[in-house]
Amino acid sequence: EDLNPDPRIVEVNITAAVGEAALLSGAKTAVWTYNDRLPGPLLHARVGDRVIVHFTNNLPESTIIHWHGLRISDQMDGSPRVQDPIEPGESFTYDFVVPDAGTYWYHTHLHQIQQFERGLYGALVVHEAEPPQFTAERIIVVDDIRLDTKNQVGAFLTSGPDIGRGRVGNRLLINGSTKPMKVTLARGAVERWRVVLATNALSLKLRTVGAKTRVIGTDGGFLPAPFDLETVQMAPGQRYDLEVRADDAATEVDLEGLILALDANDNVIEQPFPFVQASVAGEVPVVEPVYPAVPMPGVDMGAKKVNWKLSGGVVGGKVQFTINGVTGVQEGHDHVVLDTFTRGEPVQITLSSSVSPEHPFHLHGQFFQIIKRGGKLVTDEPGLRDTVLVQGAQSVTIQTYFDNPGRWMVHCHIGEHSEMGMMADVEVIDPNAAGGAGGARRVRVDHLDVGHHAHL
Ligand code: C2O
Ligand code: CU
Ligand code: CU
Repeated sequence: EDLNPDPRIVEVNITAAVGEAALLSGAKTAVWTYNDRLPGPLLHARVGDRVIVHFTNNLPESTIIHWHGLRISDQMDGSPRVQDPIEPGESFTYDFVVPDAGTYWYHTHLHQIQQFERGLYGALVVHEAEPPQFTAERIIVVDDIRLDTKNQVGAFLTSGPDIGRGRVGNRLLINGSTKPMKVTLARGAVERWRVVLATNALSLKLRTVGAKTRVIGTDGGFLPAPFDLETVQMAPGQRYDLEVRADDAATEVDLEGLILALDANDNVIEQPFPFVQASVAGEVPVVEPVYPAVPMPGVDMGAKKVNWKLSGGVVGGKVQFTINGVTGVQEGHDHVVLDTFTRGEPVQITLSSSVSPEHPFHLHGQFFQIIKRGGKLVTDEPGLRDTVLVQGAQSVTIQTYFDNPGRWMVHCHIGEHSEMGMMADVEVIDPNAAGGAGGARRVRVDHLDVGHHAHL
């Protein structure tokens, strides 16, 4: 698929269009796809590569692609607050250099409640310059979809739990299939399984059965120290890289998502759903992967402190979600700037929620570390993240660095929450950039003439 002979340039065409997918027996499901696939094509690049995506919108409405987790220029980030929407029949070329190795993904960032549910997302893997050796590498993109009795994407409700909690599906899709992924895993094999949680609102826990598994990476790439996986909480938008090896006695290894459900007596239980079912067959010599040393940016208790209060309620008969009391939904490019930061400035942001729904909160263009929950230091959520789960009425403190200048969205990743107000912009100003304090200011993207100059 790579159209460019230069090994350091990945150049692809992506077209969004209405299509169909055979998800269940019986009628096919009308879905919205990138390149006729659900999920969209898996993109591969190597850290430092230039990625050029010629995108065409053949949908009946405007859209935009956001590159979730990539610390690229805000001009290429696919924020509808920076870039004009791509109208039906129009094209836009995304052109950026991928700065960090890791597991990333891309998705629509317009009319997101419906477009995302209908299938507009895919994964993007940025390989290390010299990746550790694994027997195999797999990608597992997990989504949920709500299908009606005719196998079609169910009606979108505008009140009730779909808004309060966010729409949750009644089927899981593992790499676009309603069946778990079936693979074989050799004894002795050390595999890298990259998991992307592309659900709208459903969070879950991951675990494996029959394997010795370590968490080796998070949203922002490898961890400084892998840790053994018992279970790990995963929020919509997050990624985990796992190192999986079959137990000596195992004949099958499963990767499962534990999802809260009610049992026959109406007790809340964690019900396991299989994502991957690997039968253990054959044998290969063990080759231990050697992980690079990962320097983590410091946690600076003296850092500037900022509070973002997440809330929601009914105002004048309409549900609204807010950050610091402000609902951030406006058409076009003029938005409230929640905060302005100076490039490189360490900041601790406390996300505090007074309401019960979960908020998987996401910052565009930056990584952070999770340092406190409920005011207490946490040590079991290491690594660089771009998304953190605020689990209901709770506060979470993140240490961030704002090393990528520009204008960036910050929002809850649940479409119903963000599109009803739980989103805002922050500005990161580079005082040393040409033009002084204005150096990081956004320039309107003219999507008729963009791209090839962006990073040259
Ligand atoms: Cu996946 Cu604005 O985010
Ligand atoms: Cu994002
Ligand atoms: Cu939310």
